[in-house]
Amino acid sequence: METIILGIESSCDDTSASIFKNNTILSNVIANQNVHKEYGGVVPELASRAHQQNIVPVVHKAIKDAGIKPENIKAVAFTRGPGLMGSLLVGTSFAKGFALAGKIPLIEVDHLHAHVMVHFIKEEGVNKEMPDFPFLCLMVSGGNSQIILMHSYLEMEIIGQTIDDAAGEAFDKCGKVMGLPYPAGPIIDKLAENGNPNAFKFNKPKIKNLDYSFSGLKTSFLYFIRDQLKENPDFISQNINDLAAAIQKTIVEILMEKLIKASRKTGINTIALAGGVSANSALRKALINYADEENKKIFIPKLSYTTDNAAMIAITAYYKYLKKEFAPYDLPPYARNK
Ligand code: KG4
Repeated sequence: METIILGIESSCDDTSASIFKNNTILSNVIANQNVHKEYGGVVPELASRAHQQNIVPVVHKAIKDAGIKPENIKAVAFTRGPGLMGSLLVGTSFAKGFALAGKIPLIEVDHLHAHVMVHFIKEEGVNKEMPDFPFLCLMVSGGNSQIILMHSYLEMEIIGQTIDDAAGEAFDKCGKVMGLPYPAGPIIDKLAENGNPNAFKFNKPKIKNLDYSFSGLKTSFLYFIRDQLKENPDFISQNINDLAAAIQKTIVEILMEKLIKASRKTGINTIALAGGVSANSALRKALINYADEENKKIFIPKLSYTTDNAAMIAITAYYKYLKKEFAPYDLPPYARNK
């Protein structure tokens, strides 16, 4: 049976629409919002307005790129949360309207679950291996840092998570202290290529179980820079590459230590990465090295699937469609984790 699904993602500052035929991607259109750059972070009010402007043209383009007709679409899926409420409402309301007009089922998708599901996206003509269940996934983004145990396509268990800031926030906030624009994560990654990761040492948090904490690191980085600037006003510019490499190394070590602990504790040897921070080259390398040394099976997403996109919403929706997990029209979005 051929099932065509339209997925919509509007949880933060990217408006995206994607068309799938079963588990195969036909199109994935993303409109980024540049309005936030000058504010050093996402401005919720501006994000909602930009989603309103983008949503219709983005969906049109996704349908056109996929080479299908709107009437071929069998279900429409949307990100229900977590995210910015004003942003989520745009995608949610659009999806409800589209479902009502086309008399097709509506499917709600959790954004974090969807990030993990990128590992099941099939591309035409590409023979890609997919993880077997159960597997562990380190889901690291600007808003979340979690170790997820995936029992099946639709059953996930969060076995560790941040108790304060997310890993992406740690990158972005430390970058801000160094005067880097938002989002600083990818810039730190680039600067670190020419830096010495051992030039500076930052303390790692001592948190129990499989949970993370990044707020202490951010504060100690801030105080360290403040003290150094008192001695030398050019400290940042003279050491920017080393600072980037050292903070990146610390964040990656914190992430890897708990991930390794999770694998030992659960006995699960299949490990995946997902989310915006999974684009980080040092994190990718650290996981590859660990897999080589300890004989683990790993899954690292394509760069284009690390950031927010609607392809991940559509693939998750496909598996919900197979189980007929449809959403009612009165379902509200949620801003925080379920
Ligand atoms: O998943 P995502 O696109 O958005 C959500 O938070 O939902 O993640 C964005 C986060 C930002 O904090 C950004 O700085 C970080 O991912 N990021 C990176 C890299 N690319 C994106 N952090 C470190 N290294 C990167 N290469």
